[in-house]
Amino acid sequence: MRKAIIGGTGVYDLGETASREVITEYGTVEVDILNIKGEEIAFLPRHGKGHSIPPHLINYRANLMALKELGVKYIYASCAVGSMNENFAPGEAVLIKDFIDFTKKRPLTFYEGGKRGVAHVPMDEPYCPNLRKKFVKHAKKTGLDIKGEAVYVCTEGPRFETASEIRMFQRLGADVVGMTNVPEVVLANELGMCYQAVAIITNWCTGFKGMLLDHDIKGIMEENKELITSTFISVLTEEELTQDECNCENPLLIMGLI
Ligand code: HPA
Repeated sequence: MRKAIIGGTGVYDLGETASREVITEYGTVEVDILNIKGEEIAFLPRHGKGHSIPPHLINYRANLMALKELGVKYIYASCAVGSMNENFAPGEAVLIKDFIDFTKKRPLTFYEGGKRGVAHVPMDEPYCPNLRKKFVKHAKKTGLDIKGEAVYVCTEGPRFETASEIRMFQRLGADVVGMTNVPEVVLANELGMCYQAVAIITNWCTGFKGMLLDHDIKGIMEENKELITSTFISVLTEEELTQDECNCENPLLIMGLI
């Protein structure tokens, strides 16, 4: 199976699926298998069913290795973020184009010496430009309004950020903040998989526009969640995907020089 969707907050269940357990050296992962128009697509709810795993305790390496072992080459992921860019408001969707890593103590790599050795994966294009382009094309068909491309800062969580941290992240060039894209995107790069994340903005960041409020954005969220998922499925079932138009397949791993 060559294609997968990783579902973030609020995206747990995509209807009729079969479930498969994949045993990896990092742990066992339960993956749902969707069958759409005869095409098998793996679906992995990042936080577990019912949102039982907090961001800093997700077994990212087991998740990505399980998808690799199923033969997956193309991954679309959804994620919930806070916005510190006034052009991107709660309820809206943005495509992630780059990240800034402020995580603290997560396993970040498959290369920890030992049998795999030591390697440094380049981060010129962590998100796949080809999957991004195809998502934009299909969003026009499904009617999903994409507000733009965003730089994602990943924090350790599970706490939210302070207002001072948000001011700092803004100055560093971030647009949105979340707690899960690192190391997910990094591990996908190490495994030579195409990966693109689409973020749903759930709130303004701390201190950015007053207090962190529980806005009544659930309706818009629900609507965008459905549209994002149907856009993923539209690309994954209608496009002839190859890794010829990007550099994801053979990451130029710099082995043990640094
Ligand atoms: N901060 C961090 N992660 C988040 C936020 C936020 O404001 N909103 C959704 N995920």
